[in-house]
Amino acid sequence: MADGIQFFELNTGAKIPSMGFGTWQADPGIVGEVVTTAIKVFFFTFFISRRKMMMIHWPVSMKKGSVGLKPENLTHPDIPSTWKSMEALYDSGKARAIGVSNFSSKKLGDLLEVARVPPAVNQVESHPSWQQPKLHAFCQSKGVHLSAYSPLGSPGTGRMKREVVLKNPILNAVAEKLGKSPAQVALRWGLQMGHSILPKSTNEARIKENFDVFDWSIPEDLLAKFSEIEQASSLAKGYTRVIYLLPRTSVPTKTLKNSGMASCEQTSDF
Ligand code: A2P
Repeated sequence: MADGIQFFELNTGAKIPSMGFGTWQADPGIVGEVVTTAIKVFFFTFFISRRKMMMIHWPVSMKKGSVGLKPENLTHPDIPSTWKSMEALYDSGKARAIGVSNFSSKKLGDLLEVARVPPAVNQVESHPSWQQPKLHAFCQSKGVHLSAYSPLGSPGTGRMKREVVLKNPILNAVAEKLGKSPAQVALRWGLQMGHSILPKSTNEARIKENFDVFDWSIPEDLLAKFSEIEQASSLAKGYTRVIYLLPRTSVPTKTLKNSGMASCEQTSDF
């Protein structure tokens, strides 16, 4: 299964594996064991590079000395100057590639206008129920690789529960036709879109299942069905990513927009 893993070439010429392994939200007590399992399932020692990809995690900055991701702690980020520091890391060879995460097309476009070294990657949430077609097309047109986190619709990071993604009737019908699980089809869709994917699992059987997506593909006629999948924006009207990003607060979206978080609210441009 792992033999067939693909790599995507970044605009720096460096190669990124098409699948990574996520552990976010895994119980800290089991992360070591889970990573060991993943390494056994799939020899991804090449993931552990001395010169890594470095990213701006969110297009937000926090007030000096503040603690916690609360709206009152947030300030307008100075992306151009942050990016200059990233470019210095790249120039020094400490980072093999530099990228961003949770950047909308607008934010990415603004950055591309001032960047000397363009970002190699934009890492955003993407799965069949949150396809982000405009952002996908924009990244593609600019040579920025899209890396998808929450490719299974991880609960807590998006605007829906994982069940909504994996129980989607269209996804399930495709899975049934191909004799694959809905999770495998969701992951394979990401790969066929040209995204690297970062599924998380703490379960050995599901880790194996998730890596078993390289020696088959979704045929064009079934791939076309994905455009009929209802998207998150219409599934959860009234919710925004920001509210999920800050699940323990009940802060009006307007406040968050004023605090510079608006770009996180929409990595898509639906
Ligand atoms: P578990 O760790 O018990 O396997 P995402 O990658 O989108 O963030 O989703 C991660 C969530 O999806 C975790 O709760 C994980 O649970 C679950 N998950 C991972 N792989 C599968 C799978 N093949 N089928 C169903 N659920 C999965």
